Amino acid sequence: MATTRREFVRRIGLGAATGLALSHSFSRHGAQAQTLAQAESGVFDNGVMQLNQNESARGPGPKTLEAIRQHTTKRVGRGYAPDHVNELRSSIAERFGLDSTNVLLGTGSTPILEGSVHAFCSARKSLVTAVPSYSTSEQTARRMGVKVHAVPLDAGLYVDLPALAKLAPGAGLVYVCNPNNPSGTVHGPEVIEAFVREVMRASPDTIIHIDEAYINYTDPGAMETALPLVKEFKNVFITRSFSKAHGLAGMRIGFALGHADTLAKINASWGMGDVNMLGALAALTALNDDDHIEWERQENYAIKTFVMQAFKDMGYEVPYTQTNHLFVNLGMPASKFREACLAHDILVGRDFPPLENTHCRISLGSREEMQRAVAVFREVLAQS
Ligand SMILES: Cc1ncc(COP(=O)(O)O)c(C=O)c1O
Repeated sequence: MATTRREFVRRIGLGAATGLALSHSFSRHGAQAQTLAQAESGVFDNGVMQLNQNESARGPGPKTLEAIRQHTTKRVGRGYAPDHVNELRSSIAERFGLDSTNVLLGTGSTPILEGSVHAFCSARKSLVTAVPSYSTSEQTARRMGVKVHAVPLDAGLYVDLPALAKLAPGAGLVYVCNPNNPSGTVHGPEVIEAFVREVMRASPDTIIHIDEAYINYTDPGAMETALPLVKEFKNVFITRSFSKAHGLAGMRIGFALGHADTLAKINASWGMGDVNMLGALAALTALNDDDHIEWERQENYAIKTFVMQAFKDMGYEVPYTQTNHLFVNLGMPASKFREACLAHDILVGRDFPPLENTHCRISLGSREEMQRAVAVFREVLAQS
């Protein structure tokens, strides 16, 4: 059923209030059962399809869900020194051939992104970033009054690495999102390596952050992790997130891999939050569930192929995406498209300046969701 933005906001508000009221009355178990049933069926969006945050529509794999269930016991009453967190750190270290001191955990990778700007930028040390790109580092720098060199994407919507390298000398931090959010484009290993060597040669004190949040969605051979460069250069670190292909956005876990001194500076400059025991256990299980991550990648591949083709058939340009979202040139303001889709209970991505008047980011949901979404996109675009 179609709904207006006002109705949507009201419904979300009412939903929250109703849930609260029920949990304090006779319906406690009924409400729990309903929430569980919704979660099991994949409906956890208050009736609005959420194609706006690049989360996995499928959530964690069966092994991870089972591990969470098995560990949801009274033991969670004891958690100030939470179980599994050290185990997660050492398991990540082992997986990537590093020491535990080369792994920094955070409640999502967000606090690590924020902390790195606090650690390495200042009134005299700028941030260099692409735009549009993932904006946490940029926003943190702007809040701190740090100078930001915001470099537009190139004509193919790739991060313009040569332009970033030119601005790196003297900068505190260079942020590279690979694959890039929102454009979905990716640079291969040779290009990344040449860029890192160039920056490290011209500006050895600058820190380079390579954000690999979407690496698990890339096509085989499209990219490689920058881990070998992390091992070679003290000033290069990468971040990863469990919020994307691992389906654990609600558990809030991410990590950085880097030189112990570099990570210690980030850790000292900002709160990383406390990773909780169920989150750590879930991440530990998901980290090593390679079969499920490969299934998730293939599922996303099938869905992205279907949705990209649908937009092409409608005559729109979509750069090939290596992520779980598309950045479509609709030739109209993203806000207008968003508003029209919301009237059909579908929420697409926010504005991404400087391309907010032409491009819209659409996260990829499940197969069923995207069947419905594509029908709505067709209708909305035909009317525009
Ligand atoms: C490129 C990129 N990096 C980092 C994050 C932060 O994710 P989280 O804090 O959930 O790890 C996101 C979230 O959308 C992202 O797109």
